[in-house]
Amino acid sequence: MSVTHPDPRIDRVLHTSEDIQAAVRRIGSEITRDYEGRDLALITVLKGGTMFLADLCRAIELPLTVDFMAISSYGPGAEGSVRITKDLDDSIEGRDVLVVEDIIDTGLTLSYLLRVLRQRKPASVSVCTLLDKDARRLADLPIEYRGFSVPDRFLVGYGLDLDGLWRTLPYVATLHDEIWDRP
Ligand code: IMP
Ligand code: MG
Repeated sequence: MSVTHPDPRIDRVLHTSEDIQAAVRRIGSEITRDYEGRDLALITVLKGGTMFLADLCRAIELPLTVDFMAISSYGPGAEGSVRITKDLDDSIEGRDVLVVEDIIDTGLTLSYLLRVLRQRKPASVSVCTLLDKDARRLADLPIEYRGFSVPDRFLVGYGLDLDGLWRTLPYVATLHDEIWDRP
């Protein structure tokens, strides 16, 4: 059955809300199993990761804390070099840090972030991402938890935006190519 999406700029739904919630439950139980007895600190980068974090933290049956960072990139020519515009509120020294991401694309932003976090002497740092655009990866990253591998298309929904829009969709969708010009 072909269903026309109410927003004509959206091409098709790639992962429904039900798919995403099933992935959240699966990853939540993997984390619950792996972090039992440890001192778990979930860290998310504003704003894209917040939807996934909000669902994931409630699917982990362990004591944990959540904290947020915001970063902005220096722009073309300075790939992988980012500025922290909002730092964590609390120290991560000695704690088991899990970075929760909406999507990993080239991986350059996250690779910078991991370097910064490791300098703060956490007991461990691991990565959890809902979406993995692995065909575009430039940085070699250890990704311990992953929801879905996704194609090299521009995606919106469940935290992902284009100019601030579409973050609040409960599903992940592709846009028609003409809406999106790759920078
Ligand atoms: P990276 O440094 O190339 O891995 O950049 C990752 C960031 O780019 C993500 O945290 C998103 O903010 C953004 N991004 C990458 N792919 C998409 C997409 O398909 N839709 C929306 N944002 C994206
Ligand atoms: Mg992001």
